Amino acid sequence: MKHLRSIEELGHDGLVRLLELTNHMVEVNSRPVPKVPALRGRTVVSLFFEDSTRTRLSFETAAKRLSADTMTFSVSTSSVNKGESLRDTVETITDMGVDAFVVRHKSTGIPWQISDWTDASVVNAGDGWHQHPTQALVDCFTVRQALGCERFDGLTLTIVGDIKHSRVARSNISAFSMLGAKVILVAPPTLLPPDVSHWPVEVSHRLDDVLAHTDILYMLRLQSERMSQGHVPNLREYAETFGLDAARVGKLPSRAVLMHPGPMNRGVEMMVDPSTLPNSLIHQQVSNGVSVRMAVLFDLLAGESSTSHLSQVAS
Ligand code: NCD
Repeated sequence: MKHLRSIEELGHDGLVRLLELTNHMVEVNSRPVPKVPALRGRTVVSLFFEDSTRTRLSFETAAKRLSADTMTFSVSTSSVNKGESLRDTVETITDMGVDAFVVRHKSTGIPWQISDWTDASVVNAGDGWHQHPTQALVDCFTVRQALGCERFDGLTLTIVGDIKHSRVARSNISAFSMLGAKVILVAPPTLLPPDVSHWPVEVSHRLDDVLAHTDILYMLRLQSERMSQGHVPNLREYAETFGLDAARVGKLPSRAVLMHPGPMNRGVEMMVDPSTLPNSLIHQQVSNGVSVRMAVLFDLLAGESSTSHLSQVAS
């Protein structure tokens, strides 16, 4: 695998391979010194043109735990502010000798463009509304770990909220359906793309109708920074209709799990404190983020000798 830009590009076998590799990284992270030499001599640069807490820190931690060198690009203090183009920025960083770009950008397709300008690997850490493949890997891994199953046949994933602006939803729809899950989207019509007939999903506008059939409840944030106009009449009404409150938690089957990619807007999509819910996987999603991104960087960068490198991970 040279790049990780979308779940479709990864495909079913690539998805399963990375999920299996993540198990090794979880083991590494459980050690007193969670560090292996597998990517010694490699350099990973994070190129984030949008804000991030979890994704950026977990990629940087992942690279360090595999002994790669890291470079951090900060837009606000870079020559982008002097008018330098994205292409010149990428070519400049490439000239310094980097092996992978981890890219987040507000425009769809930027990771594909960057891979035309550099020989380094490109990892999509979120492009516009389009794709966020490592978040989908995190979420599939977390469900596998929590439910103790490899595939999701017979399970229903219900994704609630701002589907329209959500790259997490798009990547998760692909990844969970590749593993056999049924996917239901719940949102007001204004927060759905105009046509989802070609997506492998069912659609509902009433959260209360689907809760009883849900195994994995996935709440999304209203991504107001990606909205051009008001898509909901007001936040209180949205919270009443689509927010998760105690009454709605009570309608879920007792085995159902709760997920959220973060950042969470308490009092909007989340009216309960998820830390009081025994089946919340939100903390596991964050901690698995490091292991999943270690697996991705290892898969991309360990190269030909990845089998011998895997023994370094195992030792
Ligand atoms: C998501 C994103 O950036 O797309 N966050 C994340 O990566 N954990 C979701 C969001 O911003 O709401």
